[in-house]
Amino acid sequence: MKKKLIQHTSEYFENLFQKKPEHIFLSPGRINIIGEHVDYNDGFVLPAAINKYICFAISKNTNTECAIIAKDLNEAYKFDLKEDLKPIDKMWVNYILGVLHQLKNKGLHQGFNIVFSSTIPMGAGLSSSAALECGIGYALNKLYDLGLTKEEIAVIGQKSEHTFVGVNCGIMDQFASVFGKKNKVIKLDCNTLEYEYHKADFKKYSLLLLDSNVKHTHLTSGYNDRRNEVEQGLAIIKEHFPEVKTFRNCTEEIILELKEQLGEIIFKRCHFVVKEIQRVQDAVASLQQSDFEKLGQLMTETHHGLSKEYEVSCDEIDFLVNAVANEKHVLGSRMMGGGFGGCSINLVEKGSENELIEKISEQYRNVFGIELKSYKVKISKGTTEYKK
Ligand code: GLA
Repeated sequence: MKKKLIQHTSEYFENLFQKKPEHIFLSPGRINIIGEHVDYNDGFVLPAAINKYICFAISKNTNTECAIIAKDLNEAYKFDLKEDLKPIDKMWVNYILGVLHQLKNKGLHQGFNIVFSSTIPMGAGLSSSAALECGIGYALNKLYDLGLTKEEIAVIGQKSEHTFVGVNCGIMDQFASVFGKKNKVIKLDCNTLEYEYHKADFKKYSLLLLDSNVKHTHLTSGYNDRRNEVEQGLAIIKEHFPEVKTFRNCTEEIILELKEQLGEIIFKRCHFVVKEIQRVQDAVASLQQSDFEKLGQLMTETHHGLSKEYEVSCDEIDFLVNAVANEKHVLGSRMMGGGFGGCSINLVEKGSENELIEKISEQYRNVFGIELKSYKVKISKGTTEYKK
């Protein structure tokens, strides 16, 4: 699939520009084992890059002109780097312009032609947008020797979402896309950006994604509202417990003690955050001990927290999680990513996947009239230049 993607993207480039692209880059989507909605709450997350990619075919220009072609959308955007770059009314363009706006301040003065195409489904919670931002940042950094570190590339991607797209996302997606490693999950400390790799060896289990086919965009979902709610919560906590600096050093006891002051909604949000930060620590220990029963339980607990306390799930995803709850081959299941649609991630016994997919697809179709999609993902390396 990767080979085909590369071939199609580069042939398209060649047909359009009448010469082969000088470089090919691949930027992956991501999964997250556990640690949801805690990246912007100074927590830990446990993501990994996957074998679904955006492929970029790219060549330098000698002047300041730029052409970006979204092959899958059959759309192009042309501009001059000398222009003052501002958001326009096309979402995919804004992810890119937000990155370029920052790269201009880091020494990008010369134009380029890019064709890109993707195997990461959009709006499915697999971070196609982070792959787009980081792929562009990574490629231009290489092409024009801008001297950016991988961490800077990830942060630039995140800032593009904040400034040009309007989603106040955390750093997890961009970080996972850039720092991914084959067969490794990344335990990222979102407070310091320190990270460690852990072996993604699930022994006789595998990770299966079930795509609800309910598309989301975090510009209109409750994503930014959740950020505001937890910020308000943290401010109240700090008033009463000044020693608490972030959710990292806040305890469940503190949250329970402040139940009244926080109010019903904000209490639920903060309670989820504190529990989820702890769950990631426990999940890493379970993974190291190959205690997959425990890991599965933690994932399912996360789902219930996301659904009932953080309230970022939806009926379709709740259905998918509940439908596998009593399946003996499934150890854990939860919604993944920002929520309000997208995929569930399931820890399932190897070999049981097809039967499970068939069974759940039928139930899902009967209840919602929607075709379920499924992905058996492999954990792969982060953004990289492809060399033949
Ligand atoms: C989206 C955001 C991430 C993170 C997740 C939820 O994917 O882009 O920063 O907050 O939601 O964990």
